[in-house]
Amino acid sequence: MSTRPAADPAIRVRGLKKSYGKLEVLRGVDFDVSRGSIFALLGSNGSGKTTTVRILATLLKADTGTAGVNGFDIATQPANVRESISLTGQFAAVDEILSGRENLVLVARLRHLEDPGAIADDLLRRFSLTDAATRRVSTYSGGMRRRLDIAMSLIGNSPVIFLDEPTSGLDPEARIEVWQAVRELAGHGTTVLLTTQYLDEAEQLADRIAILHKGRIIANGTLAELKKLFPPATVEYVEKQPTLEEIFLAIIGHDDKTATGANT
Ligand SMILES: Nc1ncnc2c1ncn2[C@@H]1O[C@H](COP(=O)(O)OP(=O)(O)OP(=O)(O)O)[C@@H](O)[C@H]1O
Ligand SMILES: [Mg+2]
Repeated sequence: MSTRPAADPAIRVRGLKKSYGKLEVLRGVDFDVSRGSIFALLGSNGSGKTTTVRILATLLKADTGTAGVNGFDIATQPANVRESISLTGQFAAVDEILSGRENLVLVARLRHLEDPGAIADDLLRRFSLTDAATRRVSTYSGGMRRRLDIAMSLIGNSPVIFLDEPTSGLDPEARIEVWQAVRELAGHGTTVLLTTQYLDEAEQLADRIAILHKGRIIANGTLAELKKLFPPATVEYVEKQPTLEEIFLAIIGHDDKTATGANT
């Protein structure tokens, strides 16, 4: 089996460097992700988040540095690493011609699992896709596709999951649905490394947050630890204003989707 003692971090990255020609994208990246935790790699466009994930998933080679995933070295044990992970890329990898259920059954078959139909039905239920199960994915909304994409990455129960910008391009409701799915994953002991450009996403989801900037991790800690790095200069007393997201969700009636069209 590919399990390791719990004390051993699920992901360990040391001195990772990667350049594309003259462009130095990673200049020495270090971090650990403990088992069963959600770790957010936060960074702006082009900061190297996808590059890091691709290196850890053994799709791309680092120039120097080492990394271990589930106790296996990415350079010398790439096959073991691949068996330990599942990757949901920045752009959904679902087959548009097939239905949601067919996509899931296909992946379960490819992984030689018993009873692919039951696995598919269980995931469809967990990701609220049962009603749309037999529809072609080409008719799905962006949020439904993302959920299906994440559901596909869960087949086979990989101990480590990489989610590259799991909610980019989604509306607030769909984002919350994806967040719930990610929380459920970690609740089952899966280690999740996700990348995001959204501060609120990291704030909502992550046990630890690392900020990738100019090729290095410039901050790494829990939200509380990161907040301590930037203590407020003055104490101000203000009425708490709802966030735009709260207002948006209140107006559209998040719990009752039929309310969306109520005023038409
Ligand atoms: N195959 C490649 N060849 C050349 N340059 C590349 C290649 N892949 C990525 N880059 C460059 O490396 C930098 C980091 O890219 P990367 O995709 O890792 O960033 P990112 O943090 O995922 O960005 P985004 O938030 O836009 O997804 C960017 O400047 C990008 O243009
Ligand atoms: Mg990216």
